[in-house]
Amino acid sequence: MKILIASDHGGYRLKETIKEILIRKGFDVADAGCESEESVHYPVFATDVAEKIAEGKYDRGILFCGSGIGMSIVANRVKGIRAALCFDPLTAQLSREHNDSNILCLGGRIIGPKMAEEIVLKWLETPFLGGRHEERIKMIDAEAK
Ligand code: RB5
Repeated sequence: MKILIASDHGGYRLKETIKEILIRKGFDVADAGCESEESVHYPVFATDVAEKIAEGKYDRGILFCGSGIGMSIVANRVKGIRAALCFDPLTAQLSREHNDSNILCLGGRIIGPKMAEEIVLKWLETPFLGGRHEERIKMIDAEAK
């Protein structure tokens, strides 16, 4: 599984922490920025990651900003993207099982590193359940203009 991560300044520290954990655990992780806590614009990073996931260049994306909200709003504008803003392992699990989420959004100013680690690992290990959810997933892009 190829994972692309990115953040703005508000999510930078959490991105660095999670990147280190994922690399240590042997995941294939690429970092699309940003590179410091200097102020940047989250739509630039969310669009970049979302387009690369939608194009199939990476399998999953993880986006970090201060709240996670801006990243999720922007990422979900790209067709084929199902970005889930999660605050605990259960919402991360459900976003995979029912929604086949392909991008996880986290708020660096909202959740701590240990909770973020649990959310990310649950999200990466949980498969999509398919079945009745499959038809609903197809409807999302069919309905998108
Ligand atoms: C940056 O100050 C902040 O607005 C951003 O990180 C994010 O929380 C936006 O949704």
